[in-house]
Amino acid sequence: MSETLISVEGGCRLSGKIAASGSKNAVLPIIAAALLSSGTCKILDVPKLADVDVICQVLEGLGAVLSWQDKELHIKTTGLSSYEAPEELVSKMRASFLVMGPLLARMGKAKVSLPGGCAIGARPVALHIKGFEALGASVRTEQGYVLAETAGLKGARIYLDLPSVGATENLMMAATLAEGSTVLENAAEEPEIVDLANFINSMGGRIRGAGTKIIKIDGVTELGGCEHQVIPDRIEAGSYLVAAAITGGELVVDNVIPDHLKPVIAKMQEAGCLIREEESSLHILADGQLRAVDIKTLPYPGFPTDMQAQFMALMTRAQGASVITETIFENRFMHAEELRRMGANIRINGSSAVVEGPSTMQGAPVKATDLRAGMALILAALAAEGRTEISNINVIDRGYDDLVNKLSGVGANIWRSDQ
Ligand code: UD1
Repeated sequence: MSETLISVEGGCRLSGKIAASGSKNAVLPIIAAALLSSGTCKILDVPKLADVDVICQVLEGLGAVLSWQDKELHIKTTGLSSYEAPEELVSKMRASFLVMGPLLARMGKAKVSLPGGCAIGARPVALHIKGFEALGASVRTEQGYVLAETAGLKGARIYLDLPSVGATENLMMAATLAEGSTVLENAAEEPEIVDLANFINSMGGRIRGAGTKIIKIDGVTELGGCEHQVIPDRIEAGSYLVAAAITGGELVVDNVIPDHLKPVIAKMQEAGCLIREEESSLHILADGQLRAVDIKTLPYPGFPTDMQAQFMALMTRAQGASVITETIFENRFMHAEELRRMGANIRINGSSAVVEGPSTMQGAPVKATDLRAGMALILAALAAEGRTEISNINVIDRGYDDLVNKLSGVGANIWRSDQ
């Protein structure tokens, strides 16, 4: 069977304008939250991604009716016929577990297969389950499934041991249709949580405090339809900033909310990039020698773990030693090995990686091990001498909308080919 590769001929300086699409991590929970609605939800600016296809198939399997008009997705969930998310889809994408909260709230019952470990770490769901129990559900885990049932969810005070993005979203969705009030403490503060809360509130939900550590949810009995525009993808935009920087180029990255990129912008400025913020775009100029800087991934508003791999690629081109510390996932340095194959000097010591630069990167055959690792390899390839061929690119297609065309449009020599 032939495999599609992404090939990059390095050495082109990027310049021009590139736009971010709607946020993957915002739209996935939003599509799941449409299960809470008794009306029709119109979601605007939905990116074309493999992960979006998967969550849409999960909803269709539950009896929802979906239709598309270009990047606008209409979802009608009046006739839900199942409370069970198909195992083959959940195993494809961990975020499918986000249908658990809305299904439980809407149907009183939910059966979703346990998302397995994934390449970047174990990623358990214990916090989700503890929260559902606190809201009055009885939860059993059997034969790889999580089965939750309730005669009616009741609001509760829930302290999250750590600010899990997925647990905050799942519990916020479940609590929306619970009787009484819920308080989520030590909640995740990511912009995608705020977007989800705005979506739910536009359906008639009553959520306050999203974007802070304490979220209050007053339960309502029913939610109606709504129209909602998804926020821009801050990780995609950040990846394009790195693409400009690593090629010594100049880009205008459009469709961004600059505030969402504060930690990434700060670190890139520290590394020597000139970045100007406009209302909904960022202008980056990177024509000097990059300097090594240290980063440590943290929950928002700290430096995002989803930008760590791309930043490591950038640091291979910077002068000096950069220490990159990963605190969110335990196994998120797989790109280091592939970057080394391209000539990078990287040492791993536990949860830290030391990148010694600048290295002259050489094109090589490399493998994308996960979504952001794949992007890191494309970025390194843009700056490398010669041709890089990247395999296992289905993991990249999970999260970057129209990547090859977007990068070609600003001067990259990049294409897909069948091997
Ligand atoms: C989401 C994002 C992902 C991002 C991550 C961290 C989506 C679809 N994915 O993933 O891109 O990298 O946030 O910003 O939005 N944990 C537990 N117990 C739990 C839940 C989580 O120990 O019950 C741990 C995880 O193992 C991990 C940490 O908490 O070490 C953060 O995970 P979490 O915030 O839940 O990430 P996701 O929601 O899976």
